[in-house]
Amino acid sequence: MSTLIILKRIELNEVQSLLTISREMFFTAFAHLNNADDMAAYAAKAFTIEKLSDELNNPDSHFYFAWLDEQIAGYMKLNTNNAQTELQDTKALEIERIYVDARFQNRQMGKQLLQFATEKAIKYKCSYIWLGVWDANHNAIRFYERNGFQIFSSHDFMLGNDLQTDLLLKKTL
Ligand SMILES: CC(C)(COP(=O)(O)OP(=O)(O)OC[C@H]1O[C@@H](n2cnc3c(N)ncnc32)[C@H](O)[C@@H]1OP(=O)(O)O)[C@@H](O)C(=O)NCCC(=O)NCCS
Repeated sequence: MSTLIILKRIELNEVQSLLTISREMFFTAFAHLNNADDMAAYAAKAFTIEKLSDELNNPDSHFYFAWLDEQIAGYMKLNTNNAQTELQDTKALEIERIYVDARFQNRQMGKQLLQFATEKAIKYKCSYIWLGVWDANHNAIRFYERNGFQIFSSHDFMLGNDLQTDLLLKKTL
């Protein structure tokens, strides 16, 4: 089943909703695969009103909620220029976060989010899209590969005190 979503830019006055959704979706996706202290340590730094407000105020970071009727079914964070967590190539667009609510997965909403990111990348005259994904997140890796991304590198990632490996994937436009 495929369900159409509407993507809307997240405004600064929606930061509380963004915080709630970010935390909920992060814990739903990863809590069962990680140590609780590492999850809490990461979340305490990444998901605060101050940090998310700063990110929303950055003109090179672009947050979107995926709306399904009146409900938020997912969200995505795109970065260009210096907002990218690495590479910082002006010809690249990073998908830093992409989440579909667990209740709505496998309905091609993720595919629609990637399509939207591709349209933005073309609009910003980028030549590729890239992202980092935990190497244990097999579902997401398969999802990206099915949608035209290829692994090109990897880097270390600290989740609290747990040293993990992120694979870096890119899709040339
Ligand atoms: C990764 C994620 C964004 C994908 O979103 P999604 O909405 O489930 O994605 P889609 O529905 O477009 O595709 C998912 C799968 O469903 C399958 N699917 C989609 N529509 C389908 C249909 N009509 N019938 C059968 N299968 C279908 C796709 O083939 C795909 O399978 P694959 O993983 O083998 O490639 C989502 O699973 C998620 O939020 N995960 C938790 C957070 C996360 O890991 N984010 C990425 C961090 S880097």
